[in-house]
Amino acid sequence: LRIHVHKDGTDGVDSALSHNRALQQQNTHDPEMWDLLTKEKDRQCRGLELIASENFCSRAALEAQGSCLNNKYSEGYPGRRYYGGAEVVDQIELLCQKRALESFHLDPDKWGVNVQPYSGSPANFAVYTAVLNPHDRIMGLDLPDGGHLTHGYMSDVKRISATSIYFESMPYKLNTATGLIDYDQMELTARLFRPKLIIAGTSAYARLIDYARIKKLCTEIKAYMLADMAHISGLVAAKAIPSPFEYADLVTSTTHKSLRGARAGLIFYRKGVRSVDKKGKEIMYDLEDKVNFSVFPSLQGGPHNHAIAGVAVALKQAQAPMFKEYIAQVIKNSKSMAEALLSKGYTLVSGGTDNHLVLVDLRPKGMDGARAERVLELVSITANKNTCPGDKSALTPGGLRLGAPALTSRQFKEADFVQVVEFMDEGQLSFTLIAFYFSVTLHEDFKNFLLKDPETVARIANLRHRVEAFARPFPMPGFHDH
Ligand SMILES: *Cc1c(COP(=O)(O)O)cnc(C)c1O
Ligand SMILES: *[C@@H]1O[C@H](CO)[C@@H](O)[C@H](O)[C@H]1NC(C)=O
Repeated sequence: LRIHVHKDGTDGVDSALSHNRALQQQNTHDPEMWDLLTKEKDRQCRGLELIASENFCSRAALEAQGSCLNNKYSEGYPGRRYYGGAEVVDQIELLCQKRALESFHLDPDKWGVNVQPYSGSPANFAVYTAVLNPHDRIMGLDLPDGGHLTHGYMSDVKRISATSIYFESMPYKLNTATGLIDYDQMELTARLFRPKLIIAGTSAYARLIDYARIKKLCTEIKAYMLADMAHISGLVAAKAIPSPFEYADLVTSTTHKSLRGARAGLIFYRKGVRSVDKKGKEIMYDLEDKVNFSVFPSLQGGPHNHAIAGVAVALKQAQAPMFKEYIAQVIKNSKSMAEALLSKGYTLVSGGTDNHLVLVDLRPKGMDGARAERVLELVSITANKNTCPGDKSALTPGGLRLGAPALTSRQFKEADFVQVVEFMDEGQLSFTLIAFYFSVTLHEDFKNFLLKDPETVARIANLRHRVEAFARPFPMPGFHDH
């Protein structure tokens, strides 16, 4: 690598035509943005991050993502690009593909992978575009039951996700008594609705999915099975939970959740023999062409080479023994959090957890997820409200979703999660309920009350200081100041 150094000792590019000062320098290039970046870094360091889909990406992966790869256009696929100068990004994309297959223990004769999707939602839409015609039918877990928007969400009055706008979607649901996926109902509905694709995947489900049962149903009704492992792909890579690859025809994932990489999406597709017909003739998968064509040129333009490189770095990390250790700790922490919550009398949807998250049902405590989320945010604990099975209103859902991946990347152990639950319990019960009671009796808006009532303000400040004093000393991956 040779960069020309100019007489004045600079790289000579900081001129009218090419600004090149670092974001943060003596005479700061962009103080407004630098200020915001450092504020966000500080927020991440002093808070307790419990959003189940978030994680702290490694410095190495962030470096690749923030590199010169941002500059390169390379529409097409390795060896078949619409632009010159792609010889290096070709190798980067091939390396990412190789690592993606290795990370999930896949035989390259049986599986291929497309690493170009910009994120999880575009990856799902690319799969639908690849194997469905407009108005074909799909089934996915309903959003209020723990599915994802892109699995076909529509409300009573409106088609919300493009998946429900361009395709006909029918949800399957949780059993409200057990909090588990209602497979019996899924089978009944699927036999009537005859979807062309069934999605096995969740965003707020604490239990394992019965892939074998869904596959059996898909075979019966001749549907494709798509496993969307966005939340759990880190757990799958570490072989900590059953792999969807044994059953699914297609698997999509994000790369930035439990997998802990740069933000992007992946599509895995089967190759080889799909089935054998009655005459013994082999019917082959034809997904590779379809998925490739769908991602580019049907839906996307130039691949984000910087993101692909950041994903490749994270996938190498995910193959190391250290990652197995990380995921084992994520699961221990999630269980520790579940036990601590149960011992304080909280109700968990499905009664516990087998993965990286827990879903707390606050309704038996007379609370709801929206108020809890707001109070926790004021004390520097970030979590998100979530519907529970049987919830009437999506605006004030009864649940709170709590995940272990992010704090485990800050080296939190089981006992630390017990302390996290102590803080949450104090915030949620000792004064959320009191504040709620007073705001109601005073006919005040709850959110205003939290910010105005002197006693509540003091309680919040006190707890926030203790939370931040606890959180800040834990290590934080990434760059030290941004
Ligand atoms: C997060 C998630 C997605 C979407 O990923 P984005 O990167 O936010 O577009 C898709 N499916 C599931 C199950 C998810 O949890
Ligand atoms: C599809 O894309 C993958 C990933 O870039 C590539 O390896 C493969 O050769 C492509 N297949 C076809 C049929 O174009």
